[in-house]
Amino acid sequence: MSESDLPVPTLPNARDAVRALRPSQIREVANAGFGVADVLPFWFGESDRVTPAFIRDAASAALAAGATFYTHNLGIAPLRAALAGYVSELHGTTSPDHIAVTSAGVNALMLAAQLVVGPGDRVVAVTPLWPNLVEIPKILGAHVETVALSYGERGWQLDLEQLLAALTPDTKMLLVNSPNNPTGWVMSRDEQRAVLAHCRRHGIWIVADEVYERLYYADAEPGARGAHSRTAPSFLDLAARDERVICVNSFSKAWLMTGWRLGWIVAPASLMDDLGKLVEYNTSCAPDFVQQAGVAAIQQGERFTQDLVLDLKASRDHLVRALSTVPGVDVKAPPGAMYLFFSMPGASHSLELCKAMVRDVGLGVAPGSAFGPQGEGFVRWCYACDTARLDAGVERLKRFLAQRGTH
Ligand SMILES: Cc1ncc(COP(=O)(O)O)c(C=O)c1O
Repeated sequence: MSESDLPVPTLPNARDAVRALRPSQIREVANAGFGVADVLPFWFGESDRVTPAFIRDAASAALAAGATFYTHNLGIAPLRAALAGYVSELHGTTSPDHIAVTSAGVNALMLAAQLVVGPGDRVVAVTPLWPNLVEIPKILGAHVETVALSYGERGWQLDLEQLLAALTPDTKMLLVNSPNNPTGWVMSRDEQRAVLAHCRRHGIWIVADEVYERLYYADAEPGARGAHSRTAPSFLDLAARDERVICVNSFSKAWLMTGWRLGWIVAPASLMDDLGKLVEYNTSCAPDFVQQAGVAAIQQGERFTQDLVLDLKASRDHLVRALSTVPGVDVKAPPGAMYLFFSMPGASHSLELCKAMVRDVGLGVAPGSAFGPQGEGFVRWCYACDTARLDAGVERLKRFLAQRGTH
């Protein structure tokens, strides 16, 4: 048989689990904005400010000194030690043996899932939720059930009984993100206690995404004292270090380091050898000079982070006030993270609405449906920027509603 007789192959495809992943609806809205000259983007979860100079300087110095080589899979010793000190101060004694450095939060989530779940495993996630948490276990063949927060007079609330009922003994892993993206919901200490006790009873892993733990406003008034005023309630406050709890964290939000790709995991020491193998086969390590910048962030960044939280709180309150003047908008100030997740006229088809807003008035916000079906009816606005820009955005929102005749 000559080569020309061979059947023409069908177009190659990725495997089914990958093809079934949901594409990002935030990207879909951003794509609709291509060609629009002047877009005000509030759709991504990052500040408009650059990483503080002392962190950039530490990276430059490390590069100048030649920190260009592979490191230990679990991170350089000074960063693991600095993180152990930081976590100990916020959440109780934690040794470096419980810390692994990762290539940011999203890689930490992938590693945590790879440690714990496999094909056919049952995973439960509290939603609405940043889509990566729900999609990552699916890449590994797991089956994800969701338990929805509900929106009412007191903002977003968890039905604890419903969550506990969903955490059946055959569940492998619970995914909780608190403070939550997109809603800003924060799980209370009592809820965490009940969930931890239940998961202990049934041997269920808790993977807690706490990347927004420092962006917590409930007690963060100037002059507030005590460890918990500096952070949202954490599973690390309650759990022993060697039980089935994996906490994921990141430098992206509290030190404005989104582009650096640096994060960490707090996990039982008994997992670390296997976690090291997974890091090896995923990324091998985070870059050395980036890790050295992380040491500077931890050792010198506390004042910066505390000031950032006060700024974010002021921005949140400013945007809540401004949006409250827009007829048809229902918005409440949430206790954590850096988003307002609110309803407005037309939001029952949030993807179409957000595409229209970017096309018609250059206002870029994220559709609630990007965070799962439970997010439909809402839009997400990241308020991590200066208030003049927030005001300009609100003006565009008003113009959009006026053009549509809904205002
Ligand atoms: C809930 C949540 N977890 C994790 C991350 C990961 O952030 P990074 O990979 O930049 O650390 C994000 C980013 O927006 C997030 O919103």
